[in-house]
Amino acid sequence: MIISIVLAPFSCLNPLLEKMTSSWAFFAQGLTTIVLLCVNHRVAVASEYTRPGPGRIVLTKHMKPNSYPQQVHVSSVGADHMRVSYITNDSSIPSKVQYGKVSGKYNAVANGDSSHYTYFLYTSGKIHNVKIGPLEPDTVYYYRCGGVGDEFSFKTAPASLPIEFAVVGDLGQTEWTVSTLAHIGKSDYDMLLLPGDLSYADSQQPLWDSFGRLIQPYASSRPWMVTEGNHEVEALTALDMVPFIAYNHRWRMPYEESKSTSNLYYSFNVAGAVHVIMLGSYTEYGPDSAQYKWLVSDLAKVDRSVTPWLIVLLHAPWYNTNTAHQGEGEKMRKAMEALLYRAHVDIVFAGHVHAYERFTRIHNNAADSCGPVYITIGDGGNREGLALHFNPSHKSASLSVFREASFGHGRLKIIDGKKAHWSWHRNNDSDATVADELWLVSLSSSSPCQDGTKAKDEL
Ligand SMILES: *[C@@H]1O[C@H](CO)[C@@H](O)[C@H](O)[C@H]1NC(C)=O
Ligand SMILES: *[C@@H]1O[C@H](CO)[C@@H](O)[C@H](O)[C@H]1NC(C)=O
Ligand SMILES: [Fe+2]
Repeated sequence: MIISIVLAPFSCLNPLLEKMTSSWAFFAQGLTTIVLLCVNHRVAVASEYTRPGPGRIVLTKHMKPNSYPQQVHVSSVGADHMRVSYITNDSSIPSKVQYGKVSGKYNAVANGDSSHYTYFLYTSGKIHNVKIGPLEPDTVYYYRCGGVGDEFSFKTAPASLPIEFAVVGDLGQTEWTVSTLAHIGKSDYDMLLLPGDLSYADSQQPLWDSFGRLIQPYASSRPWMVTEGNHEVEALTALDMVPFIAYNHRWRMPYEESKSTSNLYYSFNVAGAVHVIMLGSYTEYGPDSAQYKWLVSDLAKVDRSVTPWLIVLLHAPWYNTNTAHQGEGEKMRKAMEALLYRAHVDIVFAGHVHAYERFTRIHNNAADSCGPVYITIGDGGNREGLALHFNPSHKSASLSVFREASFGHGRLKIIDGKKAHWSWHRNNDSDATVADELWLVSLSSSSPCQDGTKAKDEL
């Protein structure tokens, strides 16, 4: 059951609030200006797509008995395992998942472990993580958590190409999130990639629970692979709350499998042909950092004749012409861009800016046909609303191919070792309009980008 609370339905006030904080003279013009601005804003956008405002938070309740598992989500672990994560409000429920290929018939069972955390006055439920498998690729499994409650099902990722990813950042839990999720669920995909900012709980821990319940229908049925954003930090030094405490407990990703020592950055292979690297924008990334050293060794292990596609996700964009969050990814870009370029990364996805923006292939602030395509997909639907203003005279403006402040999600369909199709689906009431699309050719199949190493003819 879903309960809505009206928070800030006045989209016209968005630009106003920005202006008010940037200009006291404007503020002094008073209420008349507010009214005029609202009217003008309406008129200005009437001819095009009407931009939704911040929207309402949607709280999702647990309507089942306390013992029933909730907030079920799954993530891929290695080539043939899945981690099932769930929470129970009854500490006697075991960390156990029964599963099988026929509904109601569970011929396999696996046990895992559990943890909980406290955050100021809040104590989490029992958070269970159970790794199950080996599983067959591209196969539906039915499963039940803790031996009680509902049956869930998921489909494992395919063992080879093609594969389709849904990509969405800065998801939140508003009515816009609900619309984005509905669009995501409308057409099939194999795996969801999320470049940070999940629940927007922002220290209010019950909002993590509500978020887990909201996304459960999607995240329990396809692997959700995530990395963290600034809203996952939740550090309160004065109260001894360490960073990422809720995120690390609730969203355990397969970091050990890629020899990372932190849940905040990791990598994995999927469909036998795609290497995905999840980086952390809010943990150390300089040349002496553990993350940097891990990235160097992870990239060194990538064999592009096996995994022709190399994709990176991180939260704070390295290239961004929106007026929001200018320069926040710059230190990390300076530290790591050369590594990604030398490794011929195909695409870098970021979030953070609540809008969509696609750049050409770039290296070091210049168009470069051997650099990654940079895409900001921070438009999942969070409560802060859209980042409405792009700066047409930004120094990267000539590299920006498409930008729009609308909620939506992306699809990356990798067809084979050479070709992939990217599309951005703007949420438009009941239809997810395709607003931007692009065919990509993998850099590993492009001989000029092979840096003196012999280009592989056929991958
Ligand atoms: C949104 O959907 C409506 C109704 O389907 C359509 O008329 C309109 O053109 C769409 N707007 C955009 C910007 O795609
Ligand atoms: C657990 O139960 C308590 C008491 O009914 C309730 O306040 C809390 O929200 C529940 N937590 C979860 C995760 O369902
Ligand atoms: Fe963010």
